[in-house]
Amino acid sequence: MNRQNSLTLISKNETMRDILSRIDKIVDSDSSVLLIGETGVGKEIFAEYIHRTSNRGLNSFVKIGLSAMPVDLLESELFGYDKGAFTSASTEKKGLFEIANNGSIFLDDIDDVPLQIQTKLLRVLESRELMRVGGTSPIPINVRLITASKVDLKELVNRGIFRPDLFYRINVVPIYIPPLRERRDDIPALVEYFLKHYQPGKDLKMTPEALKCLINYSWPGNVRELKNLIQRIALFSEDEIKFSDLPVELQNDKPIEFLLKACNKCFSEGDMAFDQIVNCLEHNLLKEALSKSKGNQTQAAKSLSLSLSTFRDKLKKYSLITQE
Ligand SMILES: Nc1ncnc2c1ncn2[C@@H]1O[C@H](COP(=O)(O)OP(=O)(O)OP(=O)(O)O)[C@@H](O)[C@H]1O
Ligand SMILES: [Mg+2]
Repeated sequence: MNRQNSLTLISKNETMRDILSRIDKIVDSDSSVLLIGETGVGKEIFAEYIHRTSNRGLNSFVKIGLSAMPVDLLESELFGYDKGAFTSASTEKKGLFEIANNGSIFLDDIDDVPLQIQTKLLRVLESRELMRVGGTSPIPINVRLITASKVDLKELVNRGIFRPDLFYRINVVPIYIPPLRERRDDIPALVEYFLKHYQPGKDLKMTPEALKCLINYSWPGNVRELKNLIQRIALFSEDEIKFSDLPVELQNDKPIEFLLKACNKCFSEGDMAFDQIVNCLEHNLLKEALSKSKGNQTQAAKSLSLSLSTFRDKLKKYSLITQE
């Protein structure tokens, strides 16, 4: 099924492929979909995919982030208002539900919706009609609802801050999108795709060592973090992206492996005193960080999460002073 295809959603990972095939099965059913996942995993791109591949795909797709919006504003954004509804309402205004009519509406950060709006949302979803703010007659609406949450809504229900009846209504098809660190096999394809996307004319490649580093990194910002990083590196690279072109915090993401590599001697020789091991490790870590940052002390200090002054004190202690 591919009614519109300018949207690219990379998925090599088996779990991601399963998600896509589950979506294909329900896409035309109009059932509400709840997308759950950490920031940057792709909830919005999935919402758009669901809309575009559905039989509503040629009608409007309307999205709104529900966090940090005052209740009154949120209410008139979602449901619109009639002329005279409040002092500044000199004309009528359609809300997003009306604009999305016959298409889909994507409510992002549904976990942040205040209880007052939850009640109104539930009423609209159940009756399939809405009342504008200050309006007198109900307006029928026909929209597919897609929502996204970064947290487990069931927990919010248990804590009494999310209406259970609304939860059941939006949770008809729950889809959990795993973080990137749990689907590392997607990383090479995403890297390739973003390199082409940002520098279509350059044919940029990554060395196996650099790619391995990206595969091993923990990606707290998920696909968005990877996308932004590739955009940045692609700008400055000509043909090949090497390990040393990657930011230091990525190179040092695995502290234990880094320590083991930095101080083989400490871990293999069993007869060193505690103080000797600590000093030897520290000395090697400082040396390694300096060599990775090519002598740039600010960068090296940052890679070890030390302040520059502490870092310099330690360099003095081990007679490792270098010019910046
Ligand atoms: N599988 C993928 N293939 C291609 N691009 C992707 C994929 N997943 C995410 N992206 C891209 O990564 C970026 C972040 O994705 P998206 O905005 O959908 O995340 P999100 O889960 O909605 O994040 P947030 O919770 O912060 O709103 C977007 O630019 C999106 O296009
Ligand atoms: Mg989003």
